[in-house]
Amino acid sequence: MDSSFYKILVVNGPNLKFIGKRDTQVYGFDSIYDLHDILNANYKDLISRVSMEIFQANGEGAIIDRLEKAWQSKVYGMVINPGAYTHTSLALADCLGWIRIPYVEVHLSNIWSRDTIRHQSLTARHSLGVIAGFGIMSYVYGLQALVDFLDNDQKTGS
Ligand code: DQA
Repeated sequence: MDSSFYKILVVNGPNLKFIGKRDTQVYGFDSIYDLHDILNANYKDLISRVSMEIFQANGEGAIIDRLEKAWQSKVYGMVINPGAYTHTSLALADCLGWIRIPYVEVHLSNIWSRDTIRHQSLTARHSLGVIAGFGIMSYVYGLQALVDFLDNDQKTGS
C-alpha cells in the first residue's frame, strides 16, 4: 500500500462559491465546501493521504496569484474547476502551463452536453485529464485520479 502524503490544492474559479444554491438543476445541491465531509464520510483512505486546501476566487488575477503561490510552496498536485474561465482564459492556461503542477480539471456539469461555447477548454491543455458531469463527485474522482498519478510518478521517479 502506498503511504506517501500529498499537499493538494483544490482551485475553484468564478461563481463557484455558492454552488449548492446556484442553478441547482445544473450543478446540484452540494457545496464545494462539502468536499471535506464527503471525503471524511466515505473516502477515508483517500483523505488520509492528502492535506487539502479548498480555494475559490472570482477574479482571474486572484486565481493566478494563488497558483503562483502554490508553485512557490511546492504543492504536489491540484484539482481545478476554472468555471467560465475554462472557456476564455489564455492567462490562466499560460499559468497552468508554466508552473507544471500536475492537475486534474473537473466540472460539475458535463460541459459537452451544454451550449457549444462551453465545449472548448483552454485550461485542460496541460491537465492530466478532465472529469465532468458528476456534480461534486467530479472532485472526488479527480482527487483519486490525481493521487493515483502521484503514486505512480513516485514509483517511476519521473
Ligand atoms: C462549470 C462549467 C462552466 O461552463 C461554468 O461556467 C461554470 C461551472 C462546471 O463546473 O460545470 O461556472 O465549470
